Order: sequence, then structure tokens, then C-alpha cells
Amino acid sequence: MTPVPTPSPPPSNADTPTAQQRGTATTIFERSVEGRRAGSVPACDVPERPLDELIPQKLRRERAVRLPEVSEPEIVRHYNRLSRRNFDLDTGPYPLGSCTMKHNPRLNERVAALPGHARLHPAQSPKRAQGALELMWRLERALAEICGLPHVSLQPSAGSHGELAGLLLTRAYHADRGEDRPRVLTPDTAHGTNPASVTMAGYEVVKVATDDRGGVDVDDLRSKVDDDVACLMLTNPNTLGVFDENIREITKLVRDAGGTLYYDGANLNAIMGRSRPGDMGFDIVHVNLHKSFSQPHGGGGPGAGPIAVSDRIEPYLPVPRVVRSGGGNAAAPQFDFEYSKPKSIGRLRGFAGNFGVFARSYAYIRSLGGDGLAEASEAAVLNANYLLARLKEGRAGRYLPLAFDRTCMHEFVLSGAPAKRELGVKTLDVAKRLLDFGFHPPTIYFPLLVDEALMVEPTETETREDLDALAEAFEEILVEAERDPEIARAAPYTTPVRRLDEASASRRPVVRQTL
Ligand SMILES: Cc1ncc(COP(=O)(O)O)c(C=O)c1O
Repeated sequence: MTPVPTPSPPPSNADTPTAQQRGTATTIFERSVEGRRAGSVPACDVPERPLDELIPQKLRRERAVRLPEVSEPEIVRHYNRLSRRNFDLDTGPYPLGSCTMKHNPRLNERVAALPGHARLHPAQSPKRAQGALELMWRLERALAEICGLPHVSLQPSAGSHGELAGLLLTRAYHADRGEDRPRVLTPDTAHGTNPASVTMAGYEVVKVATDDRGGVDVDDLRSKVDDDVACLMLTNPNTLGVFDENIREITKLVRDAGGTLYYDGANLNAIMGRSRPGDMGFDIVHVNLHKSFSQPHGGGGPGAGPIAVSDRIEPYLPVPRVVRSGGGNAAAPQFDFEYSKPKSIGRLRGFAGNFGVFARSYAYIRSLGGDGLAEASEAAVLNANYLLARLKEGRAGRYLPLAFDRTCMHEFVLSGAPAKRELGVKTLDVAKRLLDFGFHPPTIYFPLLVDEALMVEPTETETREDLDALAEAFEEILVEAERDPEIARAAPYTTPVRRLDEASASRRPVVRQTL
């Protein structure tokens, strides 16, 4: 349980660095002392042979590899200290909108770490990896059911990779019909990767406006749908956290004009077991396993963005496909990779995918079951609406109002415009100050159409006490800001590094260190 927010440190403390702020972060190489070791090798108890006989000279290094020379306690302390310099989900709530930073049950880690899973060689022959192929096949079946679309490929390694795959599938589908359609429609609320993927796939992006309920402006869509449109890419619920009430009409409009329908299912947390993109009329969906399906993410770890598709898109799916054969009359089914798909767009990656991610997600889906997934989505939506209601009661209702005032799904978007205007405190300041209260900030300045946006996604794994504590932290930050806006403007005070110059950090990043 998250404790009730601790009182803010008075700004007079701001110039007194904390222990972490005083201690500089060093690399493991800087800790190296010649001759120091973390282990001892037992004496050789077999006859020794000259090195030349074992490894020919031409294959040997000329100089010893440069490794840090440190003792075991130093290694443990070094990495433990480093881990505490960052904010993580195991430390506190992480309501980062559009990212679904929810707790990953440790059971799934144990499943992924089983030796048969973790030590599987990526080039293992399918005959000797039957269990792994069966897991992939079963995961594909589960995702097909969740998405309401019959065919799945686990190949894409990220959500954006799934988007690119979906657009290449769209191109292959139209090319097969002798059609050249140069445009792809995306709403102005779309996640940034959508227009980026469209451009990478060689299409022209056409933006569709948002109506005053936060959904697609159907009249604007109607005026843009024609024979040049290859596809509509949509997220539903969208990045404003609202479910599009006109979704059937929208998908029909595009389908009738010959386009494909792409559902950005990066985040399925609001709809798992409740509604399905296939039933809404979509052809292609990608799912970020590193969001709703319990793969820990952030920090650039491995992910997976499987795609599920309709019958009309299936012939173009990437190869290899995982296939099952036999299995009748008490014989065990056989699993294999199939490459012979003449219309396929080809391979999207080396090997078969990030298998550990598949193992975790499969364990998650099987341990929750269909009812459990639906319950997780219901709790995610309930938690978001509870937090929203708590925020509306307090000062946030005045200074950080909801951008589109509707019941939200798994997340909601506030606008910090009044806080900026009336208190002189920007969304960035509120976000930074939250760190001092033990919360990771929400996503900020996205979606772009909301002025001073704060996008909050509490997820189903936070308790009511955590949500109350988060609401109280917002309240306290705004109370402070009414008294003295400088407190938020100079935040954070308690993190290992204080406010960073983010423009320089992204424009002139220092990514090399000479040792
Ligand atoms: C709505 C949406 N679409 C697509 C993506 C892209 O996913 P990835 O980061 O795995 O490429 C994200 C990721 O944040 C997302 O939130």
C-alpha cells in the first residue's frame, strides 16, 4: 500500500542535496581495481595441455579482454545502488497513460525462467522444440480469440513493428487486386507511431478530425474516404481514453470504399474479454504483449507486437507461420514452421520472436482465463473512473479539468491549461512535483490536441488506497501552487538528479564516456 503522501519538503531544503544527489553515479569500470576478483576458480584437476593445442594461435585474442575487476559485494552494491536511482513499478504507482504500467505477476517470470524456456536456442530445430512451438501456437489461438480475428502472427517485435507489418499487409492485399491506393487515414488523436509507420511504409498520412465527444468526426471521415484510401488506422478506446460510439459506422464507411481497417491494439486493457476489434469491423490488429499481457517494459527491454488478421488478409501474413498437424487417435499433434506461403510479405525478423515474452504472456492469459481477463479490464476501467471522480472533487477539477468530459475507459486526459493560466504552473511542473510524493508522473503533452495534457492510466493493479494517495498528492501540489507556484516550478527535490535540461538532453545527448 502506498502511504498517504508525505508532506512536501519545504523549498528551503531544496539546496541541501540528499545522499543520492551527493553520490555521483559511477560505472562498474570506474570501480575496477587491478587484481580484484568476484570468485575463485578451483585448481585444475585434469592434465593440462598447451593452449596452442586447444585453440590455434590465429583464433586467439592478442590482448586480454578488458573487464572490470571488482569483488562480489562491490558488484551487488553497484547494481543495487544504480537500481535505486530510477523510479520503477516495484517502488510505486506508475500511471503513465498509454503505457499500461501494471504489475507483472511473478508467476509469469518463473514460467519464462524455466530452463526449457530460458535456455532454448533460437536456431533449435522445430522437431526438438515442440513444446515451445506449441506454446506459440496456443498463444496465437488465445490472441485470435481475444481480438476476434482468426489468424495471428507473433513475428513483430514491438507495437510499431506490428503497425508496419499491418501496412505492408494492406499494400500486399491491394497490390493483389491490382489497386494502387496511396493514402492512409489516422485520427488526430493517433499515437505518434501510427503516422510514422504510415510514412515508413510509403503511404501518405491524412489526418481525420476529432468531434466534440472525443471520437472520430464522422463527417470529416466521410469527406476523406475515397478510392485512394488504403486503410484507416484507429485506436479504440482512443488516446483520450474514450470509446468511439460510432465505431461500426466508421469501419463500414472505410470497408465499403475498399480500404482495410487497422486497429492499434497496443493497449487492450479496457476491452479484454469485453469487446473485440474483429467484431467492431477491423481487419488487422496489433497487440503490445509488453502492455496488457504482463511483459515488463520501459527501459527498452524486449517486447512483442503480434498481429491478428481477418480471412481476407491471411494469405499475406509473414513467414514462417507456426502450424499444427496430426493429433488424431490419441497421437500427439506435431508443430512446425511453414514457409511456403506464396503471397506472404516475407520475414519481419530473424528467428521466431522474443520467446520469453511469449512465455510470460501465455502464462498470464492462462492463469487469468477468459473471465479473469474480463475482470482485469473491468477493474482497469473502474480504477480510472474512481481516480477521475476523486480528482474532479478537489482542486484538480478546477485547475486540471477533463479534456472531454465523458465516462472514461482505462485512462483519461486532463488539461493543465487552467493551472498554467491561473497558477503559473505548467503540466511539466505538476508532473515533476509528483515524483517527490512517490509517484511516477502521468504521460504529459500527449495527445497533442489537448492543451497542457496529462494522460493518466492507473491500471487495475493499484489499490484504492494507492488511488486515494495519488488524488491527495495532486491536491497537495495544487494547494502549494496556490500559495507559491515556485515550489512546483523547481521540483523535483528528492530524486537522484533534480530538474534536467530536457531540451539539451535530447538535442545534445552525451552517450559515450571515455574510461
Ligand atoms: C497507442 C499506442 N500505439 C502504438 C504504440 C507503439 O508500441 P511500441 O512502443 O511497442 O512500438 C504505443 C506505445 O506506447 C501506444 O501506446
